[in-house]
Amino acid sequence: TDEIFKNVIAHAKEYGFVFPSSEIYDGLSAVYDYGQNGAELKNNIKTYWWKAMVQMHDNIVGIDSAIFMHPKIWKASGHVDGFSDPMIDNKVTQKRYRADQLLEDKIAAYDAAGQTDQAELLQTEMDNALKAEDLPRLRELILEHEIKDPLSKDRPDWTDVRQFNLMFSTQVGALADDSSTIYLRPETAQGIFVNFLNVQKTGRMKIPFGIAQIGKAFRNEVIARQFIIRMREFEQMEMQFFVRPGTQKEWFNKWKETRLQWHLALGTDAAKYRYHEHTKLAHYADAAYDIEFDFPFGFKEVEGIHSRTDFDLSQHQEFSGKKMQYFDPEVDPDTNKPYGNYVPYVIETSIGLDRMFLLTMINAYKEEDLSTEEKQDSRTVLRLHPCLAPVKAAIFPLTKKDGLPEKAREIMDTLKLDFNIQYEEKDAIGKRYRRQDAIGTPFCITVDHQTLEDNTVTIRHRDSMAQERVAADQLDKIIGDLVSW
Ligand code: GAP
Repeated sequence: TDEIFKNVIAHAKEYGFVFPSSEIYDGLSAVYDYGQNGAELKNNIKTYWWKAMVQMHDNIVGIDSAIFMHPKIWKASGHVDGFSDPMIDNKVTQKRYRADQLLEDKIAAYDAAGQTDQAELLQTEMDNALKAEDLPRLRELILEHEIKDPLSKDRPDWTDVRQFNLMFSTQVGALADDSSTIYLRPETAQGIFVNFLNVQKTGRMKIPFGIAQIGKAFRNEVIARQFIIRMREFEQMEMQFFVRPGTQKEWFNKWKETRLQWHLALGTDAAKYRYHEHTKLAHYADAAYDIEFDFPFGFKEVEGIHSRTDFDLSQHQEFSGKKMQYFDPEVDPDTNKPYGNYVPYVIETSIGLDRMFLLTMINAYKEEDLSTEEKQDSRTVLRLHPCLAPVKAAIFPLTKKDGLPEKAREIMDTLKLDFNIQYEEKDAIGKRYRRQDAIGTPFCITVDHQTLEDNTVTIRHRDSMAQERVAADQLDKIIGDLVSW
């Protein structure tokens, strides 16, 4: 399975999906760039999400708020005080680790060695220390269990455990004092909360309603792991759904279901997904589930569904001094009076776009043996859902002469407004097919001498590799039927 993961990473680079950032300078840890095919795939995932969430729900609208926000927002949201990891340094090697990660690795090692009692005991003690935010106790546990530096043979000399905030900060304007410090947002959600009334009033939204947003978020992750799973700059697709207090449980369950369906509608095997209920809740939540996917390195969170109560809006009401209330004209059957003014409760759905991208690549990646008795053959194909494929069709003139390139371009012109089409004339047709298979193109269209006579082309299907002869003016419909949402 490690092998498959390595192959997917290599494939993503070789075919222009994902490059390490600043590669000619030896890269920048936990930062990646999306290449020509990656950008298309990412855009298609965004479109699928936006259509499902905003376009298909007449009570959900989308916004695009700024990455920079007033610094008080992060005080109000709890991120200045609460969004941190307990870190410990090895004084000898100067390497820094997450204290809880070191302990978890030790617990796993006890488990692997069959010392389940030890594992359970350490788990309980660690959970207690984390809950009580008892940092000295975390250090004691690391010492008691003689935890070594995972990257060094030297005897570790551990520092105290300290909290490190995950937010990146920078200075706005010319003054380099505290008052000008601003943060890069660690989640897009706050841009939605602070615009709650703007959207509600200008859009004349009635509860229950949602606000959706896609955008970049930044976290100074100390441990960068597993390719684009944990990045310092990443993208989120979030939706905050505002509901009447008391109805949050019902909406939470509904969104939990709805979001899993969104994943499954892409045709992914349901066994690859599972829910994970949070027992340790974030500072804002009263219930939380993750949707996890079975990556080659195990089940990992892709999306979170959180019941955020009225925490965020109430905090912003307090810190801004502005009312964050909604007047609900609907009549409460118990009192026969309107529900009136209240701070709404919020159900959040939050999916990491980059994790969804990786999931999609891993799920689509297939190494297929096509050998026959006569000859050995194989191909690497991305069996992407056609809606998500970066290129919808490739068009090939059979040869570079006899007017075939011109004819191919003429056909391409009739399609390129609706679909992302690629023109290729280099190499034998078989090689061109392989290159398109590798980026997941659902159709390859070949223009040959017969095309000049009767305007028909050969269309070859990615998955079945079957070929058929069709009229060129049918292509729009054939491609459209398969790749349309
Ligand atoms: N507004 C809620 C929130 O931000 P989260 O669980 O911290 O919740 C939501 O993040 C999603 O964002 C995660 O499920 C994950 O897919 C993605 N995510 C979080 N941190 C990430 C990182 N460092 N790199 C890539 N994706 C990340």
